[in-house]
Amino acid sequence: FYVSRIRDRLFAISQRCPHLGCRVPFCEGSGRFECPCHGSVFDLAGEWIAGPAPRGMDGYALTEGADGVTVDLDQPRLGPPLGAREFLTPARGSSCAERA
Ligand code: FES
Repeated sequence: FYVSRIRDRLFAISQRCPHLGCRVPFCEGSGRFECPCHGSVFDLAGEWIAGPAPRGMDGYALTEGADGVTVDLDQPRLGPPLGAREFLTPARGSSCAERA
């Protein structure tokens, strides 16, 4: 799983694409998660941006305390619905698909 931080909020995000389960790498160029299988793109919070995925990236319950961050893999969370753009930020630059 990935842990990302946006606007002081942490997210634990599954690396499996919610479309057909490919591993979704992070693209440094765009600052987004880009699935190499069918081109779904997600922001740092796992919110869907483009492609055939039926929702944003799934994740896990995460708690932050004095002892650090705990990710509970026994509490999976479905990704945000299509259209959720609460944490969307502009892309840093070109996508990894464009440079391939
Ligand atoms: Fe990721 Fe199809 S498996 S877009």
